[in-house]
Amino acid sequence: MKRKVLEALKKNKDIFISGEELSRKIGVTRTAVWKHIKQLKEEGYEIESISRKGYRLLKEPDTLDPNALIIEIGSNFIGKHIYHFDSVDSTNTIAKKMAAEGAFDGTVIIAEEQIGGRGRLGRSWISPKGTGIWMSIVLRPNIEPTEAAKITQITAAAVANAIRKATGCEVGIKWPNDIIIHNKKVCGILTEMGAELNSVNYIIVGIGINVNVDIKEFPEEVKKIATSIRACVGKEISRKDIVKEILLEFQKLYLDFIENKNIKKSIDICKKYSVTLGKQVKIKNRDKEIIAEAIDLTEDGQLLIKNESGEMQTVISGEVSV
Ligand code: BTN
Repeated sequence: MKRKVLEALKKNKDIFISGEELSRKIGVTRTAVWKHIKQLKEEGYEIESISRKGYRLLKEPDTLDPNALIIEIGSNFIGKHIYHFDSVDSTNTIAKKMAAEGAFDGTVIIAEEQIGGRGRLGRSWISPKGTGIWMSIVLRPNIEPTEAAKITQITAAAVANAIRKATGCEVGIKWPNDIIIHNKKVCGILTEMGAELNSVNYIIVGIGINVNVDIKEFPEEVKKIATSIRACVGKEISRKDIVKEILLEFQKLYLDFIENKNIKKSIDICKKYSVTLGKQVKIKNRDKEIIAEAIDLTEDGQLLIKNESGEMQTVISGEVSV
């Protein structure tokens, strides 16, 4: 109901809408309307109320209010269901639990803070309150487990496009899953899977973005390798705008994969913004390390390299330093 009140106010932004009209449109009493308006005000919405004229939405807070996101995204798939938490251990852990309990395909989990945020290779992910995007998407694709890595490439492409569009910040992609600015990481992607030998039950895509994080607060060792969007553009940036763009971009690219078995658009974006291709790279995979030239991305999203003996080979995953 609160979402319906907000939707009506957003549609009539800057115009008064009477309590009577709201109650008629939504099908609740005027007292119920008044209660939802009061709640919205408490959440930071600036709503003017004048007797006999009604209510007028003046300003929206830059929070990750799931109601506002659902209205603005208007999707019937990715982001149709959004759960927002104040503080969680890890959104990926919550998403896995929800997926195991039957959450819908495309469900999104967002938290203001993670106290046990997880990165790749068992690392932790610093996720301070209210300043970043700590978000996971539940997916239920009908694919082979071996194809899961493609979803990381789709996500990297969607996030890079979305950040560029929403902030103007010229981010690059470091294969396979880092979004970077001037060689420092601004976003990491953690793809996890619940699967049997031949079938995927669910895939969780976790996205962590340092949006307005104060980089001075990072521990010394992290300062050397991480940055934030605020540091790139020199001002606070709306997290909501970025989340919205990511979910819209992701849906477009992901549907192309699911419906047409095509990730060409995603791979083209990954190539266009790649900071890896054409460079000498060091690739760490388990306990092996190779130095090679990064040549291209294959149509499956694998990295094509020329090793030190001049032979071409493909790499499925690994940690790359440029
Ligand atoms: C990496 O190591 O680069 C991946 C970092 C992924 C962090 C995100 S934040 C949201 C989601 N929840 C987690 O615990 N991790 C991912």
